[in-house]
Amino acid sequence: MHLLLTFGIILFCSWGLATHADEPTDKGAYLAAAGSCYGCHTDVKNGGKPFAGGRALPTPFGVFYTPNITSDAETGIGGWSDEDFVNALHDGIGREGHPLFPAFPYPSYTKMTTEDALAIKSYLMSVSKVNSPNKEHDVSAPFSWRWLQWGWRLMFFNEGRYSAPPDTPAPVARGGYLVEALAHCGECHTPRNFLGGTDMSLYLAGSASGGEGEIVPNITPDPETGIGDWSEADLVSFMKDGMKPDFDNVQGTMGEVIEHSLSKLTDEDLTAIARYLKSIKPINNKVEKSSP
Ligand code: HEC
Ligand code: HEC
Repeated sequence: MHLLLTFGIILFCSWGLATHADEPTDKGAYLAAAGSCYGCHTDVKNGGKPFAGGRALPTPFGVFYTPNITSDAETGIGGWSDEDFVNALHDGIGREGHPLFPAFPYPSYTKMTTEDALAIKSYLMSVSKVNSPNKEHDVSAPFSWRWLQWGWRLMFFNEGRYSAPPDTPAPVARGGYLVEALAHCGECHTPRNFLGGTDMSLYLAGSASGGEGEIVPNITPDPETGIGDWSEADLVSFMKDGMKPDFDNVQGTMGEVIEHSLSKLTDEDLTAIARYLKSIKPINNKVEKSSP
């Protein structure tokens, strides 16, 4: 009888522990998908292991290689404290106090809540660790000089969490949080100046020099140059499977964003994103390839 009772208590406790331990990692897995961490930190094209880094990111300044963010203590972020992790996401500061390059979209992640950032960390700590040293970036001077980032930050970086304007309906505020903080749509859809700073007067109005040299369309609700004639349902279905209302299929990096991130989100969150996009200021901006 005693034995049975003890056994029962142990079973009950470990069940309790297990369900508790799963909660933050499940939430973290979802948030990591929303933030496209996998897509950038996995060298999918060359069969790289999840989150082990090494993915090449071509930019106008050269090629950046993403670091290993698995829990390996030697080559990954296994030894990082919660504070180290939050400093990277909120402030763009590496563990040794050095500024990180904005090829890592920390100017968007700064808007993420600390709770969400820490849920992502517990998820990453639960993923198989991989021992794989980081690859050096292939970027030429002066853009490779980390200390110059201190100047870039003064000009273009605003630290701070997301807050929707007062009276914003809840779904629109949720959509704003996803678009601005986690899913960092503006990192590609907002044009950049020659120093790589985003031009906020053209927020989400499209960019002629997206990552990998693509044309990135205007996604403000302008009827002529943006997505004004897309319905909410059009947007949701595009974010799920990449099919546009004119039956064109998505191309390039947006395809990766859909595959590794947006297609994993709930209908509720996708609808929130669509509502937010329909609610922002329409900007008339036709994006054309700038002549070389
Ligand atoms: C657009 C590509 C991209 C996305 C998306 C991205 N990262 Fe990164 N990340 C980078 C690059 C590039 C660096 C290296 C920056 C540097 O060397 O200064 C980096 C650096 C980091 C670092 C610092 C690691 C170190 O060793 O210094 C952490 C932590 C990190 N990313 C976590 C994340 C998390 C968590 C997510 C998802 C919420 C994420 N990243 C999404 C590109 C990306
Ligand atoms: C890594 C860069 C990148 C990110 C991040 C990104 N996009 Fe895109 N997006 C693109 C590119 C490139 C295209 C053009 C794809 C094409 O022509 O098929 C595109 C196309 C689109 C389109 C189709 C517009 C049209 O007129 O054809 C929509 C809608 C869209 N993106 C919404 C979003 C939303 C919402 C987010 C954030 C949740 C987002 N994108 C994040 C690069 C990006």
